[in-house]
Amino acid sequence: MRTPDHNTLLAAAARLRSGQLQAFPTETVYGLGADATNSDAVLAIYETKGRPRFNPLIIHVPSLEMAETLAVFSPLARRLARAFWPGPLSLVLPMRAGHGLSDIATAGLNTVALRVPNHPAALALLRETGRPLAAPSANPSGKLSPTTAEQVALGFNGKVHVLDGGPCTAGVESTILSLVDERPLQLRAGALSRDRIEAFLGVPVEQAAAGSAVSAPGMLLSHYAPNAHMRLATRPQPGEAWLAFGATEPFDGLMRNLSPAGDLYEAARNLFSMLHELDASGAAVIAVSPIPETGLGEAINDRLRRAAAPRS
Ligand code: TXA
Ligand code: MG
Repeated sequence: MRTPDHNTLLAAAARLRSGQLQAFPTETVYGLGADATNSDAVLAIYETKGRPRFNPLIIHVPSLEMAETLAVFSPLARRLARAFWPGPLSLVLPMRAGHGLSDIATAGLNTVALRVPNHPAALALLRETGRPLAAPSANPSGKLSPTTAEQVALGFNGKVHVLDGGPCTAGVESTILSLVDERPLQLRAGALSRDRIEAFLGVPVEQAAAGSAVSAPGMLLSHYAPNAHMRLATRPQPGEAWLAFGATEPFDGLMRNLSPAGDLYEAARNLFSMLHELDASGAAVIAVSPIPETGLGEAINDRLRRAAAPRS
């Protein structure tokens, strides 16, 4: 993680306050930020990404204190926020009256997804801007998420301002947990593994079924689509590129190993970067080793299944 110098930060905050877009690093992936209280600015996010308007954005804030001005926190919500913020947990909560958020950012819902990112540059930018920031992953809709400033620049042909905070340390998006109904429901597996949330709460947490009406509206099955065709939980055939995990036998072709030691944190951190690299090589097929479904494996396998899904 890198912290940009003060003048760069001030310029980025000024751009955001004037309604322009500004990409910034978080611990999960880079976000394409806009002032969440400014509908024109938020609209520019949807246009720049080519994102469907029914898909609401996660709102980033510098503190639980600011979050409480936007949403209604139950005692459980507050406990989770205190335990895991700043960090890769987005909480879906009922909106508070007078919240001031653009209803384009929340796609007209009466709930809002909030998080405090755990990256010094993101926190400094949020504090300096003084506004909640709507920020989806900084990639054209349906493409691989970016974990470096270079990938953001490439994805948008250099047309967006990017604050460079170095490579993201978590590497997959935040876990989305809905606290709208009585029981917490995981809408998206992410960088905070479900077993850690369950260990904290002392009760099992259900995962919303893929494509179900209650799941996050953005959870379209085909997502994170590389150009290459993906084959999962398998071994590579001659001529294919290989995204490996764990100890491997020698291989003649193009290969990246998510974690030779079989560490799921390392694998999550490398996932999008290695997919970007293999895809950029022009490989027609990427074969992916099996990844355990435990811990962070849930989020990794979710992203891989979406990347492998038939394109709509
Ligand atoms: O790690 C992350 O969460 C990154 C970084 C930049 O913070 N952001 C991110 O945003 O992944 P995005 O736009 O790619 O994903 C937002 C997800 C979508 O699936 C959307 O449907 C869901 O959050 N979402 C937002 N508001 C919601 C709400 N009120 N209820 C249910 N789902 C919501
Ligand atoms: Mg995304």
